[in-house]
Amino acid sequence: MKILQALAFTTLFSTGQPYAGELQGTLPMPETASYVAECGSCHTAYAPTFLPAASWRDLMANLANHFGDDASLAPELRDDLLKQLERLAGDSPRAVASITRYATRQTTGEAALRITQGGFFAFMHDEVPGSFWKRAKIGSKANCGACHPNADQGSYLEREVRIPK
Ligand code: HEC
Ligand code: HEC
Repeated sequence: MKILQALAFTTLFSTGQPYAGELQGTLPMPETASYVAECGSCHTAYAPTFLPAASWRDLMANLANHFGDDASLAPELRDDLLKQLERLAGDSPRAVASITRYATRQTTGEAALRITQGGFFAFMHDEVPGSFWKRAKIGSKANCGACHPNADQGSYLEREVRIPK
């Protein structure tokens, strides 16, 4: 564990002005309750701040071909969710300050739609052994909820991390 870096990260979280007053470390999630139902049925409902707005736009524009799945939504719901994803995206003024600096798009194509291929994810998880991701109860880096049990509520607090055996 990178104690100093983790501490700095936690401090930025707790003093991050736009979100002062919220639970420490809880990332803002879209208000529409169906976000978790619709976008959290196959995997974790990701906190918008983990991707820049352009990535959310590309992703929501092509839900019919979504990583090999059809994740289509009714157009009104899709537009509503996209608006909220853009508003809370990693490069928006409302983003969590400590994550913003990782939120510039450095890749193109499918990789640009993946949190798990971004610099922030790599930075936070570089001490997780590669074999862990393949464990039966984890299966994929994209399965945040396997180790962050409250990820669907935007909570990734260090003390909540549980790595399934
Ligand atoms: C029918 C199932 C399904 C639904 C519904 C679905 N997804 Fe996905 N999504 C997938 C699969 C499969 C992957 C690839 C997961 C992997 O690589 O382990 C994925 C990956 C992703 C990723 C990239 C994860 C990474 O690797 O960082 C994002 C972001 C994402 N989905 C967002 C959404 C959003 C937003 C919605 C709601 C509009 C949604 N998904 C709904 C199946 C789904
Ligand atoms: C194999 C289990 C595992 C999975 C799956 C996983 N993480 Fe993590 N995550 C960890 C561990 C371990 C840490 C480091 C905890 C520490 O020591 O700070 C961490 C740290 C974090 C942190 C920093 C928490 C803090 O306050 O220091 C964030 C944010 C985070 N992960 C987001 C994600 C996201 C987003 C996903 C899915 C796209 C994900 N994680 C998937 C295990 C996991």
